[in-house]
Amino acid sequence: MTKRILITGGGRRLGKTLSEHFLNEGWQVVAHYNTRSELEEHPNLSLVQANLSDPDSIRNLCEQLPGLGPFDLVIHNASCFVPDSAAQDLAQHISQHQNVHVTAPVMITEALADSWSDAASMISISDIYADIPNQRFSVYCAAKAGLQNWSLSMAQRLAGKVRVNVIQPGPIKFLPEHDQAYRERVLSQSLIGEELGYGAIVEACSYLIKAPAVTGSVMRVDGGRFVANRYDQTFSS
Ligand SMILES: NC(=O)c1ccc[n+]([C@@H]2O[C@H](COP(=O)([O-])OP(=O)(O)OC[C@H]3O[C@@H](n4cnc5c(N)ncnc54)[C@H](OP(=O)(O)O)[C@@H]3O)[C@@H](O)[C@H]2O)c1
Repeated sequence: MTKRILITGGGRRLGKTLSEHFLNEGWQVVAHYNTRSELEEHPNLSLVQANLSDPDSIRNLCEQLPGLGPFDLVIHNASCFVPDSAAQDLAQHISQHQNVHVTAPVMITEALADSWSDAASMISISDIYADIPNQRFSVYCAAKAGLQNWSLSMAQRLAGKVRVNVIQPGPIKFLPEHDQAYRERVLSQSLIGEELGYGAIVEACSYLIKAPAVTGSVMRVDGGRFVANRYDQTFSS
């Protein structure tokens, strides 16, 4: 039977690459998008719109989801990444990050309680900065840490029905606003020293959905940046 995936933030950047990958593999793809989708029309593609920073919009999405399942795979990929210094209103800054990274995955997963296929998987895309403090992006880091911890609770709650894992990307694809100096600095803090590309996350997802022994795990796909961050702190002799 044709397999079916729901992916949030599935219309652009990594989400778009994942949507295209699963379409190419013959899956039915339900791709959520917020502002726009860059996916080409495809007979196996359904698009659903929601602003995941808005609880009413999340509720509206959740009402549609059971009718679009059952799902073999759900990827919580949508993310907002705003430095604390850009916050106009701190409470709004916090709720935006919490809603996109925690409230939406929690509500979507609750809405799908009876909409899982046999041997299903859920994958949450977190960040190595869920485990590393960063004073410039403290609210983003706290939200990703929340997503990660909640996902591991779901590995417990959904055990026997859905395997739940977390992927922590490192420098996969820089944003257009990242200048050359920033890019060089980040890559100098990585053991592999290269922008890894979306394919690295596609490979990690492909592994996780085929790994019956793996649930409740946190997989770093970061070119060794998490370890490299600590390298300068080790004693030289
Ligand atoms: N790129 C990297 O190197 C890197 C590093 C570490 C972790 N990650 C994680 O990997 C995942 C994908 O990365 P990416 O670079 O493709 O992320 P991205 O460019 O930040 O895209 C995130 C997606 O989330 C959607 N989104 C943002 N705000 C939303 C909202 N309010 N409601 C609904 N959707 C919203 C965006 O859609 P709109 O633009 O339409 O709002 C977009 O499709 C993310 O979870 C990210 O945190 C990426």
